[in-house]
Amino acid sequence: MPILEIEHLQKAYGDTHILHDINISIEPGDFLVLVGPSGCGKSTLLNCIAGLEPITGGTIRIAGRDVTGVSPKDRDIAMVFQSYALYPTMSVARNITFGMQVRGVDKATQERKLAEVARQLQIEPLLNRKPGQLSGGQRQRVAMGRALVRDPALFLFDEPLSNLDAKLRVSMRTEIKKLHQDLNASIVYVTHDQIEAMTLATRIVVMKGGVIQQIGTPAEIYNKPANMFVADFMGSPAMNLIPARARAEGGQTRIEIDRPGDAPLVIVDPVARDLPTEIVLGVRPEDIHEATGNAHLPGTAQAASSDVLIEIVEPAGADTFAVTHLGGKPVTARLRAESAVQARQPFPLAFDLSKVSYFSPKDGQRLN
Ligand SMILES: Nc1ncnc2c1ncn2[C@@H]1O[C@H](COP(=O)(O)OP(=O)(O)O)[C@@H](O)[C@H]1O
Ligand SMILES: [Mg+2]
Repeated sequence: MPILEIEHLQKAYGDTHILHDINISIEPGDFLVLVGPSGCGKSTLLNCIAGLEPITGGTIRIAGRDVTGVSPKDRDIAMVFQSYALYPTMSVARNITFGMQVRGVDKATQERKLAEVARQLQIEPLLNRKPGQLSGGQRQRVAMGRALVRDPALFLFDEPLSNLDAKLRVSMRTEIKKLHQDLNASIVYVTHDQIEAMTLATRIVVMKGGVIQQIGTPAEIYNKPANMFVADFMGSPAMNLIPARARAEGGQTRIEIDRPGDAPLVIVDPVARDLPTEIVLGVRPEDIHEATGNAHLPGTAQAASSDVLIEIVEPAGADTFAVTHLGGKPVTARLRAESAVQARQPFPLAFDLSKVSYFSPKDGQRLN
């Protein structure tokens, strides 16, 4: 049975429609990440699941029970907000046990649960401190502790790491992932950070303007983006989206890309594809390689005349990024650190055509 089922959910404030026909179903143990740019409706959707916002249409079921009209405290959920909302005058221990006390949990159970989560989160030495005496990361742990002692059917997190500095964010991300693995908890987690989404999720929902763009595993979203918005939003540096022309040719597909000051670059995809003439070729930076003479990489189709003029070379430790222009767009290739690529010099590139996406320039939808 799905732990969370959302069907045809609509949310409007007056005449302003915020969420449009949202359909999501997740299984117990799933880590669902809602990701999208600021203002796309992630927090609104999470608040609807929590019952903090009434919905305009549709149904929400948690563990099989229709909770659409049920108050937040009776939904069997626990929420961690971006601002941790700790009680400043209470000790860490009281912050964690207070909710249990309000719910009438007996003292012995409170103590046992407190000890259990304090150990899990490694905050035992902090239990007598006040929130004001904690670092951001420690406050974050306390807020998580308060959610954990509830043992809910569903955890809801709204950008819990966005107030932390970059380094702490990465280590807390790892901790949340470990916690999920240890507890096998069911989680809905909101972030605008696509890397956080990729690293944490078992399933990702990509949203834009209150509309779901794609639902899938991190690998599905990354490898087969449903449209150009998802392709561009997920991945850093972003997928290259190159205007091109396609033509069927003897059971293969010939792709032509304009390049400045030279004949078009011609790439032959060995697969016969049903594409319109005008396409957008989507290729991730790591799927553009140095073309190495006749030593083809497996699955790599090499351009007939593959030299392109490199404009910028950016060494980045493990990789070197090389930027050129194709089809009127900047195109980034992620090359090996030891690559001999040089700025203002021609360089041979090969596209791994087993990994590319084709999109319609008309509506941005995926074609392959
Ligand atoms: N109480 C409200 N009244 C009217 N509009 C609102 C209200 N709350 C949020 N919105 C609007 O709903 C949209 C989605 O907001 P939100 O869910 O907070 O986005 P996100 O969390 O993805 O950044 C925004 O355009 C926001 O301005
Ligand atoms: Mg938000």
